[in-house]
Amino acid sequence: MAKSTSRLEGITAMVTGSSSGIGRAVALQLATEGAKAVICVDVRPGLAQPRSNEDALPTHEVIQSRHGNEAAAFMQCDISVEEDGRGETLGVANVMRNIAELTGRIDVLVNCAGIGLFGYPLHETSLEIWQKQMDVCATGSFLMMKHSIAQFLKQEPDQNGSRGSIVNISSIGAKYGLRGCGAYCAAKAALLAVSRSAAVDYAAQGIRINVILPGYIQTPMLQPVLDDRETHAGFEEYLNSSIPAGRLGQPRDIAGAAVWLASSAESAYVTGSTFTIDGGFTAV
Ligand SMILES: NC(=O)c1ccc[n+]([C@@H]2O[C@H](COP(=O)([O-])OP(=O)(O)OC[C@H]3O[C@@H](n4cnc5c(N)ncnc54)[C@H](O)[C@@H]3O)[C@@H](O)[C@H]2O)c1
Repeated sequence: MAKSTSRLEGITAMVTGSSSGIGRAVALQLATEGAKAVICVDVRPGLAQPRSNEDALPTHEVIQSRHGNEAAAFMQCDISVEEDGRGETLGVANVMRNIAELTGRIDVLVNCAGIGLFGYPLHETSLEIWQKQMDVCATGSFLMMKHSIAQFLKQEPDQNGSRGSIVNISSIGAKYGLRGCGAYCAAKAALLAVSRSAAVDYAAQGIRINVILPGYIQTPMLQPVLDDRETHAGFEEYLNSSIPAGRLGQPRDIAGAAVWLASSAESAYVTGSTFTIDGGFTAV
């Protein structure tokens, strides 16, 4: 059994987009920091294209192998669907009911699920692309927040006065222009705006909502852009030379901040805040 710290001892956390990239790193880190249960929520159980044997194991199975069977569960869910999903894929309302029945209490939601429909200047952005991008990154995250908050409000505050903490993964694109990413940036800006508004609405009830704006993070979402040496010739080199930290971000760079924001002991007075994590890219 792997060693864990007690920073998040006893909490139940939900992570959307947990099968890949940032969500996977966050889910693994929450378990390492002592979460009693990490509920992994994703539209698919594993990575689309695993690059190693370790990658081939679904996130909840990695957590179970390190911390025991009770430490994780997987719920297949399309976060852009509110009620019953299709086939094995549930809607958000069903997932929340299942989790509440399973655990009785939910302390943390980390909203990482997302899609990146990049490479479309606005005049080439179909309504379908715009809608799809909004459905997942704006509407899906809203639905997860809506149903989590309804559950948080039923719960007694913990010893730090917290009924629940939400960490939303937006993007630097919510604040800065990214080439060919109009729909993506709009969806991420919507997530930022709804998070701030909800933080104001629920602060007095002990519910905290914060937003992380990652820069360029090396994950399966970004990899095809880096690998496409024709359309994006020199892009990786450009990033490495213009990010003051001198490298792309890694999923663990985001996971540490998400754990801190999840912890009611460490960040009890932090709500409605925005954290840019981009190796200094937007500070230049
Ligand atoms: N990688 C970056 O450079 C970067 C930068 C800024 C923000 N982000 C954001 O971080 C989050 C995580 O991105 P990542 O880079 O780890 O991407 P990723 O593609 O590696 O992971 C995204 C996960 O979300 C899941 N997902 C997609 N649609 C879903 C749906 N409808 N319901 C449930 N799950 C769904 C996917 O199955 C996948 O497992 C995203 O919201 C992304 O927009 C990423």
